[in-house]
Order: sequence, then C-alpha cells, then structure tokens
Amino acid sequence: MHWRSLAALAALLSVRDAAYAQQMLRFSCSKLTIERLDPLVSPGMEQSPHMHQVGGGNSFRASMPPVDFDPVKESTCTSCTFAEDFSNYWTANLFFRARNGTLKRVPQLVNMGLKADGGLTVYYIPPYDGKTNVTAFKPGFRMLVGDPMLRQAEGQQRQVCHRCFSTINQVPFGGAPCTGEDTASLPLKMCGGGIRSTITFPSCWDGVNVDSPDHKSHVAYPETGSFESSGPCPASHPVKLPQLMYEVMWDTRPFNDPDLWPEDGSQPLVYSMGDGTGYGQHGDYLFGWKGDALQRALDARCSNDRCAQLKSQTSDEAMRCTINQTVPENYNGWLNQLPGNWTITYS
Ligand SMILES: *[C@@H]1O[C@H](CO)[C@@H](O)[C@H](O)[C@H]1NC(C)=O
Ligand SMILES: *[C@@H]1O[C@H](CO)[C@@H](O)[C@H](O)[C@H]1NC(C)=O
Repeated sequence: MHWRSLAALAALLSVRDAAYAQQMLRFSCSKLTIERLDPLVSPGMEQSPHMHQVGGGNSFRASMPPVDFDPVKESTCTSCTFAEDFSNYWTANLFFRARNGTLKRVPQLVNMGLKADGGLTVYYIPPYDGKTNVTAFKPGFRMLVGDPMLRQAEGQQRQVCHRCFSTINQVPFGGAPCTGEDTASLPLKMCGGGIRSTITFPSCWDGVNVDSPDHKSHVAYPETGSFESSGPCPASHPVKLPQLMYEVMWDTRPFNDPDLWPEDGSQPLVYSMGDGTGYGQHGDYLFGWKGDALQRALDARCSNDRCAQLKSQTSDEAMRCTINQTVPENYNGWLNQLPGNWTITYS
C-alpha cells in the first residue's frame, strides 16, 4: 500500500512541488458519528438544521464553547489515527435522490493507502519550502469554510471542489485540488470511480482571536498562490498556519445506472442541507490536539500518518471510537425526506 499513498501525495502536488510531497500529515479520521449537531454554527442545539458526518475526539457535542471546553480533557478516544488529536472535523453528507423522490445516503470509499469506516481524510501541510516556520492552532481555535446556503458559483466556494473519477484508482490521479477538471459544483455526469470532495481552509490567522462571529473573519487565505499555502499572508492576518485540508470520498458507483438517474439528464445527488448544486458544501474545524503535539509534528515536517514525535493508534482502534447520536435519527436506507425535512434546490 505504501507506494500508492506516496503516489497519491505526489499526484496531489504539481511536479514542481513533488520534492516536498512527503512533508505533510495525511491521516484518516474515521466516522465518529453522523447526526444533526453543529457546535460551531448551532451551539447548544441538540438537533441542528442539517446532518453532518464527524470525525475526531469523542467529546463532540452540541455545546463546546471556545477555550472553556477542552476536547483533550473531555475526550476518552479519537477516531483519528493520531492518538493525541481530539480535534473535530465535520462536513455535509451526500444523498442520492431516486426518480420516486426517495433518498439514500451515498456510502464512502476508503482513501488511497488508508483504512477507515467513512469519515474523512485530514491534511496538515506546512509551507513547501521546508523551512518557513508555521504556527499550530491555539486551544479553542475553530473555523468554517464554505456556506451551506450557497447555490451558485461565488465567494469561498473556490476552496471547495469536487473531482469526478472516471474509474476507481484513476491514473493519472489529477493535479492539486480545484485544478484541472475539478468543479465547485457537484459533477453533472456519472463518475465511474466516485467523487472526491476537497475543502481547503485559510492558512493565515489574525494572531489574536480563536473564533469570530462568522467563524471566518479571524482567518484569511494567502494573498497569492495557486495551492493556497505558498503565498504570503495579508497584513491583517500575518500569522502563517498549517494548510488544513479535508478529502471526502463518495462511492457513487451503486447509483451509476441511467435507469435510476433523472430522465431529463440532470444529476441526482444532493447534500444534506438540500443542496443539489454542490456549491453549499462546507467544512468545520475545531482544534483539539493535546499540548504541543501538532506543533512538534509540523516542526519535524512529519509526513503521512506516522510521526516519531506523535503517538499513533491503529486504524482498527480509531474505528472503534464512535459516539451515539444525541437525538437518534435514521439516516440509512431509503428515506422519504432529508433529515431536517429540507426542500431540495438544484439552482
Ligand atoms: C424508490 O426508488 C428506489 C430506486 O429505484 C427503489 O429502490 C425504492 O424501492 C423506491 N421506493 C418506493 C417507495 O417506491
Ligand atoms: C450506544 O448505545 C447503545 C445502545 O443503547 C449502547 O449499547 C452503547 O454502549 C452506546 N455506545 C456508546 C459509545 O455510548
């Protein structure tokens, strides 16, 4: 499996950057829970408006106020393979809408070289030059990328992309996220090898606030740079953070049947907030690494999911860390409605 994960990393970057391809953490956070909870956008609500899939520390809950709530102290396990990472990572779920209007959750593929039960692949990428210092997130830090209500190409959606794989284990794999044929919208055609959703977070921080009212304005994207970590930070947000990125692999293959797709040729996938366009895909992050573990891994320029500076656990141990839904709600099988009873919009 080793060559495949290296190949995946090399393929992620342009040829120019390939020499530094190993200097990034890339690891799996298996499914901790799937439920309607959002401690960032809907704090305290035991059922937030739309459903998420969540990875990370098992202290995830409706109310996790910055700094006061310490995921390291409150968690007893994590679904990530780095055993000291009790952060939470969450994104929307994807559903398939049949001609008769019923919906089924799209299962997930395991990402190259990793082993997990759903969840997401997490990257922390330091600057490619191999020497620029990068400052790990501080306790209480959290941020949000994307806008669940977005239904058209505008704003931060440029950091949220979909890749349509023609075959499983597609070669060539394609360039950096959001390049080539990647689309901000959901792909409009059938993808023989499934769909990858990437979410790339801002990598510049104001150096003061661990959160902001919109969960966005305390961070910023670099002023320039194609793959975002390479450019200088704006003066308003001078502190260089590691580039955080998520990958979610959707196994759309069970639904790739022309007899199941809409007769008018439109695409039938829909995100859990009733978004049939894909522009509303979003990612949430709540920092929860133990002590200075993340900083040590970044300083050592550790790569992949093993690091001499960090404690790891096996994928099987990580997969055993799950939590029950706060409010039980079915999300498997054919459903008459999206959880939260969303009206589906396609534009
Ligand atoms: C709706 O369509 C799906 C896919 O064709 C099918 O499996 C399911 O049984 C249908 N449900 C109803 C209630 O007809
Ligand atoms: C989840 O609920 C089941 C059934 O009530 C229970 O047996 C199990 O221990 C719970 N798991 C966790 C992690 O709380």
